[in-house]
Amino acid sequence: DDAPAKASPACHNRLSRPRNCSYADGDWEILAKFWFPVARAEDIGDKPLAARLLDVKLVIYRTTDGINVARDLCPHRGAPLSMGWVEEDEIVCPYHGLRFASDGRCVRIPAQPNVVPSDRFRATILPSVERYGLVWTCLDAQSPEPVIPEFPEWSDPAFQTILCPPVGMNAAPGRQVEGFIDVAHFAWIHHEAFADRENSVVPLYQTKSTDFGFRSIYVSDVSNFPKALHHLEPEGFIWHRTFDVHPPFIAFLKVDFPDDGVLRIMNIATPVSARETILYVPLVRNFDKTGSLDDVYAFNAQIFAEDQAIVEAQCPEDLPLDMEDEAHFAADRSSVAYRKALREMGLTG
Ligand code: FES
Ligand code: CO
Repeated sequence: DDAPAKASPACHNRLSRPRNCSYADGDWEILAKFWFPVARAEDIGDKPLAARLLDVKLVIYRTTDGINVARDLCPHRGAPLSMGWVEEDEIVCPYHGLRFASDGRCVRIPAQPNVVPSDRFRATILPSVERYGLVWTCLDAQSPEPVIPEFPEWSDPAFQTILCPPVGMNAAPGRQVEGFIDVAHFAWIHHEAFADRENSVVPLYQTKSTDFGFRSIYVSDVSNFPKALHHLEPEGFIWHRTFDVHPPFIAFLKVDFPDDGVLRIMNIATPVSARETILYVPLVRNFDKTGSLDDVYAFNAQIFAEDQAIVEAQCPEDLPLDMEDEAHFAADRSSVAYRKALREMGLTG
């Protein structure tokens, strides 16, 4: 179900830092080189959809060739193309009816139908690709091929693929990702979903750097079953959780279940702005494949809501990258590695 990347030269546009940018100097330029999802593919229909990435307004729409991502800005008078519509595979600006082909070329100015529109009337189309049920784009792509972490289980028939509804948070993406890899909060924030306040000790675990970032393997008896199913857990079962962190804002969690069950979750914190995040969570499992998806959505929604309440309230809003800025204990090994990785990318917050 993965469409090939649209990588024609005309699509190989690069944007520069927007006005009213919420990022510290230099951070925008670093983050703009990364690919992020901006919508679920299933949510893109006839009607153009508005989105935002790194403070840049985007429009996403479907043609018979697939999905296009463009800057949500008509080159004529700056009307948002997301207020327009798609006709014969061209996006139509609602203000004066200019029409744009999939390469951004303006093909018609209705007020002057005999004029061939000049290149100044070109809309900015960005490179895009569908992967893991999501539409990915990049504001400053360094290569025509998308750079997106591999998720091999997504196309493995042994696994069921599940895409949870996206969750918008008024929080910095770094705070969200750090919360996802934080193993000391289970007993406190998630004591109703799956963990226990009486089981709050975090056994020491290892973190090692990898070519993509770093990996932490956390071994404990903290169950991953929803509370209502704890009676199904085999006596004395030890849970292995493997976190693969791809800085800046993507992390995987693989959980080994009883009977060779595997659950692998991809946590993608799309940076809408410095302090706004949309969380996309494609996940796979090789068990319960005929079980109710509503239960999966509900369980994940509960966990996301529990995390959201905290990450939206943390102060400062930006993830502090200086070691001295907050206090750390040994169980924070992953968080410390994450902050270091962001620092090494040259980010300041
Ligand atoms: Fe888009 Fe004039 S502003 S056609
Ligand atoms: Co959590």
